[in-house]
Amino acid sequence: MCGIVGYVGCKEAVKILLDGIKRLEYRGYDSSGIAFIEDGIMKCEKAVGRIAELEKKLLGNNFRTQSGIIHTRWATHGAPTTENAHPHTDCNNEIAVVHNGIIENYHYLKSKLEQEGHIFISETDTEILAHLIEKHFHGNLEMAVMEALKEVEGTYGIAAISTKNPQKIVAARKGSPLILGIGNQEYFITSDVSASLEHTRDVIYLDDNEIAIITPDTYETKTIQNIPTYKKVEEVLWNIDMIEKGGYEHFMLKEIHEQPQALYNTMRGRVDNTTGSIKLGGLINFEKELRKARRIIIVACGTSWHAGLTGEYMLEEFVRIPVEVEYASEFRYRNPIIERDTVVIAISQSGETADTLAAMREAKSKGATVLSICNVVGSTIAREADCGIYLHIGPEIGVASTKAFTAQITVFYLFTRFMMDLRNISASTHSDIGKEILSIPEKIQHILTMEEDIVELAGIYKDTEHALYLGRGYNYPVALEGALKLKEISYIHAEGYPAAEMKHGPIALINKDMPVIFIAIKDSVYGKILNNIEEVKSRSGRVIAIATEGDNQLAEKADHIFYIPRTSEVLTPILSVIPLQLLAYHMAVMRGCDVDKPRNLAKSVTVE
Ligand code: G6P
Repeated sequence: MCGIVGYVGCKEAVKILLDGIKRLEYRGYDSSGIAFIEDGIMKCEKAVGRIAELEKKLLGNNFRTQSGIIHTRWATHGAPTTENAHPHTDCNNEIAVVHNGIIENYHYLKSKLEQEGHIFISETDTEILAHLIEKHFHGNLEMAVMEALKEVEGTYGIAAISTKNPQKIVAARKGSPLILGIGNQEYFITSDVSASLEHTRDVIYLDDNEIAIITPDTYETKTIQNIPTYKKVEEVLWNIDMIEKGGYEHFMLKEIHEQPQALYNTMRGRVDNTTGSIKLGGLINFEKELRKARRIIIVACGTSWHAGLTGEYMLEEFVRIPVEVEYASEFRYRNPIIERDTVVIAISQSGETADTLAAMREAKSKGATVLSICNVVGSTIAREADCGIYLHIGPEIGVASTKAFTAQITVFYLFTRFMMDLRNISASTHSDIGKEILSIPEKIQHILTMEEDIVELAGIYKDTEHALYLGRGYNYPVALEGALKLKEISYIHAEGYPAAEMKHGPIALINKDMPVIFIAIKDSVYGKILNNIEEVKSRSGRVIAIATEGDNQLAEKADHIFYIPRTSEVLTPILSVIPLQLLAYHMAVMRGCDVDKPRNLAKSVTVE
């Protein structure tokens, strides 16, 4: 959802900025632009489309600048055109600004600035920032930025430069992530750590209403009220290999294949090999609240919301606590009831999704204990929650989430067992919730060895226009996730449903051209799923079944079967989703889609 990189240091800046922004391209990819100062003149270049288009315009030039700002855009206000691409400049082309977020009072500010004589050339909300800074500029960029931001309502992560203060970048944050990277005689401003990881692992996470000023010699952080803040420098544990494709054609494929190792990392040091009991260090100070919790509300968006549904099933079955799963965007606006002893779990891979963050803040303000399940260490949701559990799966870059989904389910499994121990619920009576989780990485590995079968299936169905995914119980969320994966990256219309609900509508769609993907695992609802398969077959539907190894009964009913290893019922979603991820991936590739950057989507949705 827009990416920002700023650099000041002793090296040639344009290349560093381009390399950095390419790492953030997953955040937005409809246009991009760069601004830097050379010989006292503001230079600005922009291009529509991928960053490669901007790079083409810059290639062959011998740049001498050692500072600048760059941006990749995901359009919110104004179409993706060159005029609307960032950076935006003031009337005199002396100030340039890049921005992530939404200025809510921009209509009002724009007409006020127009009355004062400012000329606008774009349709964006961001352009008002350049003019507001111009209006307040009296020789000192940070003072002008502070004054400008006092007039602004909305969310922002910004970086600004001025020809009057060359070699200085002023950045500010409210609601959109911004990180200060501290290198050796060089400093970075980035939307996420991957953009500066090649140069430094030392970072400061800016807080809301905070600004950072970087020059080649030093950095400073302050509040927007000009009060210095003294921030801890933190070390990022990711390394550069983790943000490379590592020989895979796409990040998504790499991330699908990383799942055995990723889940192993999620569990590392948390599962007792002998007893199966669980240690979750991030919850230590909130055990009392978790022990006495009377209700759990899970808030999330997209794939994380699907993982939340599996969490609901697990926690209700084994901990016997009422759980609701809410779309964060709905929860935040409907004045939810938070009773005493309510725990809200916010799930977000990125830890920056605007709706999830707002839902979490709403819950906190009403007195709930908030637990986060995030992947990105130091992300806003992780930092603002009372306690949390990290996924520890390394960066997920492909826009369609894969390894985060299976890791989130793994975390729910660990958390369920943790809650059972906390509340003295005997795990021995539930063989399902024991040490079986430890065998899951190996079982995923086994599924991945059968990828060729999925490629063949993808070849058969790649031209379909619609697909229906059906599952029950623990595999109902997998049906939703399978359908989401396919529509996100292949643009095939796909719907996920609880299998029994098919009779209440989707059955009308079934004909000989309609592939219906059943997650038909040998579990407690297996008999019911067989009935649903019959219903599809009797209407000439094409059935693809994800089945349990050794299940011969399905062979005569399904047109295609893909077998996955046996595991306890509660863990089946982790295995059954793998073939669906691969199916979506291969169908999308065969249709010529850009799976890592699907049209109109962004990885980290930092606006509502
Ligand atoms: C976007 C991404 C999805 C993701 C969702 C929630 O829509 O494209 O892949 O599931 O946001 O993201 P989060 O980072 O909060 O899990």
